[in-house]
Amino acid sequence: MNNDDALILRAAHRSEASEIASISRLQIEHGLNWRWTPKRIKTLIADNQTTLVVASMNGVIEGFGSMQFMNTKSHLILLAVQPKSRRCGIGKAIVKWLEKACGDGVVERIWLEVRLSNQVARRFYEAQGYRFVRTIRKYYAKDEAAIVMEKLIKHAN
Ligand SMILES: CC(C)(COP(=O)(O)OP(=O)(O)OC[C@H]1O[C@@H](n2cnc3c(N)ncnc32)[C@H](O)[C@@H]1OP(=O)(O)O)[C@@H](O)C(=O)NCCC(=O)NCCS
Repeated sequence: MNNDDALILRAAHRSEASEIASISRLQIEHGLNWRWTPKRIKTLIADNQTTLVVASMNGVIEGFGSMQFMNTKSHLILLAVQPKSRRCGIGKAIVKWLEKACGDGVVERIWLEVRLSNQVARRFYEAQGYRFVRTIRKYYAKDEAAIVMEKLIKHAN
C-alpha cells in the first residue's frame, strides 16, 4: 500500500454485489459451497437490519465486512481483506467501523463464527478483543467445525 493512498470506508452499493460475492467465495468460503452469492449479497445490502461496508482505495475494493443488528446483540457475518492488502490495518478498520455502526448504548455483545482451521482470523479477532465462546461441530459443509467468538461492549454508563 502506498502512503498517499487513502482508504475509504463506506456502505456497499448494490452494483458491487458480484465483486463482493467473488471475494467472499475466494477468500472466505474456499473449499465450501458458495453461500454468499451475488443474489444473497444484494439481499444483505437491501436489508435495513444489516450493514455491509466496503474498504476501497483508488476505487478498488480492498476488503469488506457485514454486521447484522438484533436489538442488544449483533452478528458479524462476513469479513475479508484482499491478500495483497493484508496486515495493513484494513481488517481492523472495517471491524471498528462495524462496531461503531452498532450505536452507542444498545448493543451489549457482538458474536461471530470462524472456521476452526482459520488460525489467522482467530488471531485477528483475538487482537480486536473477541474471545472464544464455544466450538460448534460440523457447522460448515465437509464436517468443518466453527469457533464462536464474542466481544462484550462496554458502555460509558
Ligand atoms: C482476517 C483478515 C480479515 C485480517 O485482515 P487484515 O487487514 O490483514 O488485518 P489487520 O492488518 O487489520 O490486522 C490487525 C491485527 O490482527 C492480527 N493479525 C492479522 N493478521 C494476522 C496474521 N496473519 N497472523 C497473526 N496475527 C494477525 C495482528 O495482531 C494485527 O496487528 P499487527 O499487524 O499490528 O500485528 C484477513 O486475514 C482475511 O481477509 N483473511 C481471509 C478471510 C477471513 O479469514 N475472514 C474472516 C473469517 S469470516
